[in-house]
Formats: sequence, C-alpha cells, structure tokens
Amino acid sequence: MRRLVHRPRRLRRSPSLRNLIRETQLSAHDFVLPLFVSEKVERRCAIASMPGVFQLSLKEIVDEAQRAQDLGLQAVLLFGIPEKKDEQASGAYAENGVVQKALRTIKSKCPDLVTITDVCLCEYMSHGHCGVTRIDGDHFHVLNDETVDLLVKTALSHAAAGADMVAPSDMMDGRIGAIREALDAGGFDQIGIMSYAAKFASAFYGPFREAAESVPQFGDRRSYQMDYANPDEALREVALDIDEGADIVMVKPALPYIDILWRAHERFGKPMAAYHVSGEYAMINAAVEKGIVEERAAVLEIMTALKRAGADVVITYWARELAAWTRE
Ligand code: PBG
Repeated sequence: MRRLVHRPRRLRRSPSLRNLIRETQLSAHDFVLPLFVSEKVERRCAIASMPGVFQLSLKEIVDEAQRAQDLGLQAVLLFGIPEKKDEQASGAYAENGVVQKALRTIKSKCPDLVTITDVCLCEYMSHGHCGVTRIDGDHFHVLNDETVDLLVKTALSHAAAGADMVAPSDMMDGRIGAIREALDAGGFDQIGIMSYAAKFASAFYGPFREAAESVPQFGDRRSYQMDYANPDEALREVALDIDEGADIVMVKPALPYIDILWRAHERFGKPMAAYHVSGEYAMINAAVEKGIVEERAAVLEIMTALKRAGADVVITYWARELAAWTRE
C-alpha cells in the first residue's frame, strides 16, 4: 500500500499564486508625501542631498498637491519655511503664515486630499531649536510649557486654515493633551492628531534640516528627542500620547527602529505611522547612484518591512513613485 507523505510545501510557483497568499500588500493608500513650501522661493529649489525633493513656492505647492492626489495618494504632510524667523517663532502661528496660506489654497483646489501639518517651531525659530530656549552661561534649556503654548497656537491656526490633521514633532511633554483640548474647545473636534510619539535623536535628519532650513545654531536636540538606546522609554512615550488623545502614533526614523514599531503595534493596537526620514532616503539614493542597489526593488522591500512590522501609514519621500509602483 502507498503511504501518503505530507511534505511541507511553499506555494510559490506562479506570480498570481504568490499574490493570492501574500500577507502584506502595499497600495498608494499607505503612503504620505512630505512637501516643503517656502515663502522665500519663486521657483522650486532642489535639495542637494535629496534627489527629487524640492522647496516649493506657494504657487507650486498647489499643483504638487493636485499631482499627488491624481497619483492616488490620500495625504500630504506640509512643512513650511518662513520668510523671517524670530525667537518666538511667530511665523508658525501667524494667520498668514506660509503653511496657513498653503493650506487655504490646497483645500480650495483639492478638498478631498488629507492635509497633515507638521507642528513644530524649529523652522520658525532664529536659533533652529524646536522650542523657546533660555541660555544660562554655557547651557541652554528648552522651556517646555512656554513651548507648548506656542505649539497649541500653531495647531489651532493650522486647523483654522483647513488642516485635517496636525502632527506635533517637537517632543515637548504634555503637548498632545494640550493641543487636543484646545482643538476641541475651538470647534475642531474632527481634526485628528498624528503624534511624533517615539522620535529619536538621530543622525538621519541631516538632509531634512537642509530642506527645512532648521539646523540648530547651537547645541543639539538630545535634551528633548529620545535616546535611541531606550526602547521601554519609547513605549512609555507612545502610551502617554495615546492617553492624551493621539489618533495616530508615529515612530521616527523608521528602519533602525522597526523593533519599536512592532512592539508598539503589538502592545497598543493603535493606528501607527513610520517616518522613513531624509537620511534613510538619501542613503538609498546614494547607493542607487553608485549602482549598488536597484531603487524600486530596495524601496518596495523596505516599505513592505515597515508595514509588516505594524505601520499602517508610512511617511516617505518615495510616496509618488510608490503610488505608481504599487499600481502595476
Ligand atoms: C521638525 C522635524 C524634523 C523632521 C521632521 N520634523 C527634524 C528634526 O527633528 O531635526 C525630520 C524629517 C526627516 O529627516 O525627513 N522637528
């Protein structure tokens, strides 16, 4: 008599069969495109370290938003570069600030595109730090509560100008709760909060600081961004932001912090975002230029890894290309 032997097999013969049983799928809906709008440029200005990324004028940002929507993207994340900076970051919450103006025009042309705004003061501060600073001799302090007050004003002015969601990236304590409360009180209870919950002091933000013109003029950001050696602390930060009312919690940078992403996803089951940051983008691009890796294959592999690790949303400078690649 013939004995049946069940040998474990992997079904992987044809592409359609592979698609049928694929656990992680990517689509244009997964990605958010960061856009930089500058009051200082008339025409798009290339960022040397980030091929394909530009500072856009107020006129160009609208077309770029429209293009993103036409490609099938659901959302953009706006960063502003103001004409003038000062020590109160007044451009961040001015009614006619650069982001506020951009929001109004984008919303009038693309009402269905989700507009998320980065809420931070570093681009608007003359010293480039994310908060109000006080200098004592050789040391400087970022004043938490004074900063939170300005962040609240910024978030409110973005909501008033048409933002669908605000994304505080400063890492001050208590800012999510303060912003949530102010939004609700201001009649913006439908405006969401995506918090940069686990944002690490990282070597990978360099190209962004060139793009956003936010290099700190003294010191560094280690007193308010997280120590990358501390995963449990990161999870506590995520828990706090969820308690304070964050709708989406973010881990940033992405690939070196995939363990945090996974643990937060498993523990909290909340919508999660991963920010694949400028330095990560620049690294792959440099390797592509040298012919070391193939761009599309590398990017699809990274994005699948991030989704597999629990990201519902990935913020990436490749969002446009991904919209096309995932359609094919
Ligand atoms: C502002 C902010 C930064 C990034 C997003 N929001 C820079 C920083 O914290 O230094 C970095 C994004 C990127 O590198 O792509 N605080």
